[in-house]
Amino acid sequence: MQKGDLIRKFQSIFNETKTPKLFFAPGRINLIGEHTDYNGGHVFPASISLGTYALATKRDDQKFRFYSMNFSELGIIEVDLNDLDYKNNDHWANYPKGMILFMKHAGFNIGLGADILYFGNIPNGAGLSSSASIELVTGVLLNNLYQLKMERIQMIRLGQLVENDYIGVKSGIMDQFAIGMGRKDHAILLNCHTLAYKYAPVVLENHSILIINSNKQRTLAGSKYNERRQQCEQALFDLQQELSITSLGELTPIEFERNKHLIKDKVNLKRAKHAVYENARTLKSLEYLQKGELISFGQLVNASHLSLRDDYEVTGFELDTIVETAWEIDGVIGARMVGAGFGGCALAIVEKEKVEQFKNKIQSIYVERVGYEVTFYTATISDGAIELL
Ligand code: GLA
Repeated sequence: MQKGDLIRKFQSIFNETKTPKLFFAPGRINLIGEHTDYNGGHVFPASISLGTYALATKRDDQKFRFYSMNFSELGIIEVDLNDLDYKNNDHWANYPKGMILFMKHAGFNIGLGADILYFGNIPNGAGLSSSASIELVTGVLLNNLYQLKMERIQMIRLGQLVENDYIGVKSGIMDQFAIGMGRKDHAILLNCHTLAYKYAPVVLENHSILIINSNKQRTLAGSKYNERRQQCEQALFDLQQELSITSLGELTPIEFERNKHLIKDKVNLKRAKHAVYENARTLKSLEYLQKGELISFGQLVNASHLSLRDDYEVTGFELDTIVETAWEIDGVIGARMVGAGFGGCALAIVEKEKVEQFKNKIQSIYVERVGYEVTFYTATISDGAIELL
């Protein structure tokens, strides 16, 4: 979709002649470090070129009118600036509503409404953070339209808060951080406990990162995500009876092995084990990538999937089929699920020359075993949320 087409669409939907401003927020992948963010561990995400465009003009009354080209059947969703509470009927528009409400609560002066058109080329509910992408594109747009001079880190935190307290998913900060702070050709190693971060160049030379959408839909809120988080909190609580730690991310695998007997419940123990070992793998990954040791990095990526499959139990038949098939294919350095799991996408690092072969093999096995097709995307790592001039 070209910029001109989007502008014409905006003008026809809202029956306006003014030229809207255009904003973009990416989606994200995560190289490694899954379900570690809310456990105070490290993550290693990168923002991608797929994402959400938003076009907006300010209004001179207090109405917000939202339209998504991805949900055109819902038409324009209109709300009042003074009535932004969550409503089922407002469907996807609850994400921008939540952002506006929480920015108001944080003291930002949003006195007038706006007309906003959204267009996303990121698949919904596929583990690439379509929701955080909408939150951040809305944040950037409001910041610009109302000249709020909001710090990026505050926008990121508000996005997470919307997810936690408005939508009801107790997610960590990874998605909003990756989308808010992304940098072209770099992944971000983020300590989710302190929010200290560093950029690491992703130089793969002869390899590409492929995203494989299992096309198995999942909704985060309805999933077992919150349950996983709670199980980790319970494990932490048990450990805290003897250890003075504030998060699982503070434990090395050796410390964990020494103290794991404190965790009373067998299932909680497996969840905590994943969080601790995944954090260690993430730190090690940075080291390997910096040294250009791709093969060793790939092995950690594979180990991450195994741990998400066996200890965290968030993969499922569809993602396992993709990833386990990928492991057997010539030219694959590593493969694993991405994001929350329970469906959604996997990623694979594949030798460029063998990509076509890879796709054919995955597709035929997946169709045979699962009964429908996967969709492939090539991940281009690009910048974080911005106004497009
Ligand atoms: C979702 C959440 C993130 C993170 C991942 C799992 O994407 O929004 O905060 O917990 O799942 O790593």
